Amino acid sequence: MASDYRPTPEDKFTFGLWTVGWQGVDVFGGAIRPPMDPAYAVGKLAELGAYGVTFHDNDVFEFDASDAEREAAIKSFRDATEQHGLKVPMVTTNTFSHPIFKDGGFTSNDRRVRRLALGKIAKNIDLAAELGAETYVFWGGREGAESNFAKNVGDALDRYREGFNTLTAYVKEQGYDLRFAIEPKPNEPRGDILLPTVGHALAFIETLDHSEMVGLNPEVGHEEMAGLSFAAGIGQALWHKKLFHIDLNGQHGPRFDQDLRFGAGNLRGAFNLVDLLENSDYDGPRHFDFKPPRTEDEEGVWVSAEGGIRNYLILKEKSAAFRADPEVQAALERSGLAELAQPTLAEGETLATVREESFPVDEMAAHGFAFERLDQLAMEHLLGVR
Ligand code: GCO
Ligand code: MN
Ligand code: MN
Repeated sequence: MASDYRPTPEDKFTFGLWTVGWQGVDVFGGAIRPPMDPAYAVGKLAELGAYGVTFHDNDVFEFDASDAEREAAIKSFRDATEQHGLKVPMVTTNTFSHPIFKDGGFTSNDRRVRRLALGKIAKNIDLAAELGAETYVFWGGREGAESNFAKNVGDALDRYREGFNTLTAYVKEQGYDLRFAIEPKPNEPRGDILLPTVGHALAFIETLDHSEMVGLNPEVGHEEMAGLSFAAGIGQALWHKKLFHIDLNGQHGPRFDQDLRFGAGNLRGAFNLVDLLENSDYDGPRHFDFKPPRTEDEEGVWVSAEGGIRNYLILKEKSAAFRADPEVQAALERSGLAELAQPTLAEGETLATVREESFPVDEMAAHGFAFERLDQLAMEHLLGVR
């Protein structure tokens, strides 16, 4: 119990360069923090006990960097990761900041933009492979529309699929050991974004040429913006074996994308999530994608970053205590969780068997599931009174 909640590399906590490096530019105001050099961020994240760091191409070098500038920036970043022993498990592309991407990358109505986007992504995939990344994330924040007349969804999905098919074929051709992960989001910056939730993205993936190479990078806040339970979405993603990566942060229900530190916002949801992940076969990074609020100076940035780690480790400890509690085990049994794991028809039975079976309907109608008792036990573990 006397843990100081210090992470080890086995915890696999990773951070996007764009998180701690966020300068606080939002719709209503400009930068409130100075730019942060990627190499400096790497050193500070190593001090916090991070396992790795992730980035968009343009977190490290500018959109219009010359080859020499690009190489120099990559070298400085790469040297820092090597010096501090940080991995680069995931890389992604910025297809949203530059004005050309105002109508998207994969699905812009301007065919030239789509062609440029494919080349930009492929170039950064080469870099990701060179740095040893295992996952390449696609967050299509600009793939969408404000007006339903502006975008034919079927055509846009054709182009989205064409993009994925082209890029998965490229990865195979090059022999890179890299999987793709789609990050759903319902809205912001676009009014409506394509592939808005985990469920939409799962259905899309099944239509791809190399669907086995494509999975999900769900973000806590994005599902909650849509009013959905994140843990339930992750449960289904795990069931489909499509949880390739995860973005941890905090959100207070349906509203703008808050990107709070993990544990802030929906704390019960965070507890459900940690309990689910820690008892699953997911062994990928626990990746923080948050934005330290604009009110914070640099010290506040590191407090916020460390807060996410601590909250995860605290919840992990609480989950273990919850699962080990004999009263909880009895409550789980009483609530029928083991029974749900049993097939509805026994070996050799058919539909005819159940059609002929006589059921104690009154007794079944009167049966209580005792979920409240179970949930109260979870609540008391979370509140620290058990
Ligand atoms: C958001 C998103 C982004 C993406 C990132 C990866 O807050 O809407 O999380 O931060 O994760 O850009 O491409
Ligand atoms: Mn977000
Ligand atoms: Mn994210």
